[in-house]
Amino acid sequence: MLIDRFGRIHNYLRISVTDRCNLKCVYCMPDVNLSGSAENKNMSVSEIYEIAKVFSDLGINKIRITGGEPFVRKEIAAIFTNLSVLPATLAVSTNALLIDGHIDLLKNCGVKNINVSLDTLNPDEFLSITKSNSLEKIFSNIILLIENDFRVKINFVVMKGVNENAVIEAAGLTKNFGVEVRFIEYMPFKGNKWSSGKVYSHDEILDNIRSRYNIYKLQDEPNDTSKKYGITGHAGSIGIISTITKPFCGGCNRLRLTSDGKLKNCLFSKGETDLLTSFRKGEDIKQLIISGLTEKEFERGGQFESENIENRSMVNIGG
Ligand code: 5AD
Ligand code: SF4
Repeated sequence: MLIDRFGRIHNYLRISVTDRCNLKCVYCMPDVNLSGSAENKNMSVSEIYEIAKVFSDLGINKIRITGGEPFVRKEIAAIFTNLSVLPATLAVSTNALLIDGHIDLLKNCGVKNINVSLDTLNPDEFLSITKSNSLEKIFSNIILLIENDFRVKINFVVMKGVNENAVIEAAGLTKNFGVEVRFIEYMPFKGNKWSSGKVYSHDEILDNIRSRYNIYKLQDEPNDTSKKYGITGHAGSIGIISTITKPFCGGCNRLRLTSDGKLKNCLFSKGETDLLTSFRKGEDIKQLIISGLTEKEFERGGQFESENIENRSMVNIGG
């Protein structure tokens, strides 16, 4: 089993399969237009499977596929199909723009949990956040996922002065849809113009929603990143991910594998462990994974000066 210095059991791996994306969300994609890594820098389809298998042998039983946007990778079907034979629950985080072409694939691979990014319901605001006019398509794809009985969570990054006015409308989606709408505090990553003044906090989000709805606390699971609430009379629920104002690292069970095959032991880790280079040399990467986990800090990669974090951009990590 993968246990860190603080006794936390790590059973959850997030694998980024590409650092390219078909949107350019301001909080994620740096201004310098990233064209994505060269193909040979990225793990191939078989390398993703072989490396994931090593993690699975070490006790990982939940795998989430991330990007960039996972469905822009041409071989995404083969990636899912391969991973579906591992004894692990498979999930995916996506902007849902292309997901209508992959419903059968996801069903056949046993994927149930799908997290979709959506940070406003207003088309003009959507355009200014994502630089794309695809709100309508994404919204209809979210409905399609719900109709096909996937467990959908909507990820809404709240930025002060940008989209906090859309919080109530997004929370209102839970009235008729059995989804969890998760409001996420804006986090600092390389090139994303973060400042503490742009953080719309957990408490502000709650007060905002309370001004319109009657909410009540729901039970959180031990490894949950979100604090969950129900809304009286609504089919779905809401959650708040408060990385900045109320970190929840004590229950962390997550490891990350970047598309270029580096292990990140924390979303905010400065250091990375290069698994892919060793794997390509035919070396045993088990010990590398274990030592990479040993270096994990208790909270936020040990980086507390949010303005000066040394890290990748989010599109390069995969969330
Ligand atoms: N702050 C908070 N959340 C972010 N995400 C991406 N960038 C940021 C950021 N700067 C979230 C998106 C996406 C998930 C993978 O990470 O909501 O759905
Ligand atoms: Fe885990 Fe790091 Fe996130 Fe904390 S900040 S929950 S340690 S990934």
